[in-house]
Amino acid sequence: MPHTQTRSNSLLIALHWIMLLLLIAVYVAIEGRAYFPRGSEARDEIKAWHYTLGLTVFILVWIRLAVRLLTTMPPVVPPPQRWQRIASRIVHVALYVLMIGMPIGGVLMLSGEGERIPFWFGLEVPPVIAPDKDFAESVEVIHTTYGQIGYALIALHAVAGLAHHYVFKDNALRRMLPFSRQPS
Ligand code: HEM
Ligand code: HEM
Repeated sequence: MPHTQTRSNSLLIALHWIMLLLLIAVYVAIEGRAYFPRGSEARDEIKAWHYTLGLTVFILVWIRLAVRLLTTMPPVVPPPQRWQRIASRIVHVALYVLMIGMPIGGVLMLSGEGERIPFWFGLEVPPVIAPDKDFAESVEVIHTTYGQIGYALIALHAVAGLAHHYVFKDNALRRMLPFSRQPS
């Protein structure tokens, strides 16, 4: 196997686990807002973290997608059944929809509400549409609903990963772990 392929896979693996940590933080920030009174500075601050970290997901997902499309992942051994391959493909696509669609929805929502969209180092994302509260509310319904679906998707995906390891006893999880050698 060429040396470059192993390196690309390492980047994919790194981005995969960074994404998990980021998404945990994105969810904790938005759920955590409930502990602070409405209108308080702390509540605005924790929501701002939700926006900034969510936008970071949006940036990293394109790098990840590029690496994913430019490299081949080593095959799962022993090969999973057809229904497993189809199911995992559907869940992976739904996870990419989460990583790409949720930040877009968030930006549309805040733009429609005429609110600031804070990013790292004091930077801000400019509004992408003119203020439109009704539109913002519709997007919020979608963002909230898919956000809840996201919990189920991530849980299902994680359980499937563990099932591959402990039940089907294949290498699907092992080849995604940072410190195990990639089969080549
Ligand atoms: C992968 C990224 C993201 C995920 C998984 C996510 C998930 C969520 C979830 C679960 C909620 C709470 C819904 C509820 O009330 O139960 C929420 C609310 C919200 N999100 Fe996101 N989000 C993401 C990215 C973003 C981004 C990038 C922005 C803005 C730039 C954003 C803006 C908002 C806003 C404005 C709310 C409503 C907050 C409130 O009114 O208290 N989200 N999001
Ligand atoms: C504890 C949590 C997680 C575990 C145990 C886990 C495990 C795995 C495993 C074993 C694979 C390889 C499966 C295969 O190639 O068929 C994989 C791939 C993948 N994971 Fe996760 N994962 C977790 C969290 C996440 C999160 C939070 C996301 C994003 C929202 C995610 C998105 C993906 C995607 C899109 C793939 C397909 C490969 C790619 O395109 O990068 N995973 N994961």
